[in-house]
Amino acid sequence: MKANVLVIDDDYHMRVALKESLTKTGYTVFLAENGMKAINEISKRIFDLVITDVKMPHLNGIELLKHIRKEHPLLPVILVTAYGTIQDAVSVIKEGAFDYIQKPFTADTLYSTIKRAIGVNNGKIIYASKAIKDVLMKAEKVAKSDVTVLVLGESGVGKELISRFIHENSDRPKNPFVPVNCASLPENLLESELFGYEKGAFTGAYSRKMGKFEIADRGTILLDEITEMDFRLQAKLLRVLQEKEIEVVGSKYPKKIDARVIATTNRNIVKLVEEGKFREDLYYRLNVFPIYVPPLRERKEDIPELVAYFLRKHSKGMDVSISKEAMNFLMENNWKGNARELENVIARACILSNYSVIKLTDLQEMKFTQDSSRGSIREMEMKLIMDALKTCNGNRTKAASMLGKTTRTLRNKIKEYKDTGILPATEDKQWMS
Ligand SMILES: Nc1ncnc2c1ncn2[C@@H]1O[C@H](COP(=O)(O)OP(=O)(O)OP(=O)(O)O)[C@@H](O)[C@H]1O
Ligand SMILES: [Mg+2]
Repeated sequence: MKANVLVIDDDYHMRVALKESLTKTGYTVFLAENGMKAINEISKRIFDLVITDVKMPHLNGIELLKHIRKEHPLLPVILVTAYGTIQDAVSVIKEGAFDYIQKPFTADTLYSTIKRAIGVNNGKIIYASKAIKDVLMKAEKVAKSDVTVLVLGESGVGKELISRFIHENSDRPKNPFVPVNCASLPENLLESELFGYEKGAFTGAYSRKMGKFEIADRGTILLDEITEMDFRLQAKLLRVLQEKEIEVVGSKYPKKIDARVIATTNRNIVKLVEEGKFREDLYYRLNVFPIYVPPLRERKEDIPELVAYFLRKHSKGMDVSISKEAMNFLMENNWKGNARELENVIARACILSNYSVIKLTDLQEMKFTQDSSRGSIREMEMKLIMDALKTCNGNRTKAASMLGKTTRTLRNKIKEYKDTGILPATEDKQWMS
């Protein structure tokens, strides 16, 4: 996807020169001759970056910056100034400029600054709702501290995106951001994944393995789906959080680690604590600063923004648009899979529409195939699981091994069926022991 860059300068030659060189470098460039015109441009399309001169008639660069910070908090702004003094620089950074460059500047300086600014935007968070604005304001506030954050919300709402945002706005953005999915590995593997091992720690440990905590040293570790961590490992993690040191498997000495911890879950963690499935002490340790990301259906004003963004992302540079009926359909939908599901729908609709106009039928065809094929496979699978559970008198560990699955996978499946409504909420209670 080409990035959209808005260049603002009252000097015609400067504008044109910048446009020419940035277009060659692969950006889509739009021009404006002053701040007022820039605001108008920004209201018409989504930009990835603004590069603005400071001294201009009709709303100067600083005023424009202030406007952008208020209306588009995540749009990075680079200021170009000929009158740059250190003091100016400090004040523009304080006003929220991404950076500034002084005239005359070299192409290298320009490109590297742009790259950094747009890099921040990889994993750009699109929104129009107050709900997400509040989430981001909270996230920005907590980012600067080293406090542990617990990001809560349904699957696909953007929890990982918010976690990255916290890392990028922290004091450690240049250090690693290391996501670990706690649900994807069996217990013993998860432990060595997190804490690493020494050479010879066990049969097969042919060389030293760095754990994710070590890799995240001075950066941030994201413990994704934290509730899927087993009880024993939960105790170890608690100790790591308290002592700020890890025990590398097979090592005699603990190792100091300075990793900021963010954890996420899409499950009801309070309930899991009540049920004794998640350690209460660890929960309190993680829940220092909770951030709840509401589901898409509760912030429908984000849908048009997300649609525009995903269209641009998946349109392969072609001019794909969407019919009014199709858009209405997207607004009405319940989005159980939240932004992730919306993105998949748009990506497929782009293809089905032959990259022209997405019509209602492009969405319905997709919906139909999804409902019928995926639906029936799911139903079959659910029936197998229910049968196995009955045979094992509801013992999930036994049922899982009978089906050749891990208990965790089985639990996730049951939850998925419940969430998607295939399994009535009441019916699984007997298995939820
Ligand atoms: N506000 C948003 N703006 C742009 N993209 C978004 C937004 N929210 C979610 N997405 C996109 O949707 C997908 C899912 O987001 P993400 O992985 O952060 O969700 P999640 O809450 O961690 O999901 P899960 O619980 O399934 O792990 C990603 O591709 C992400 O880029
Ligand atoms: Mg996630």
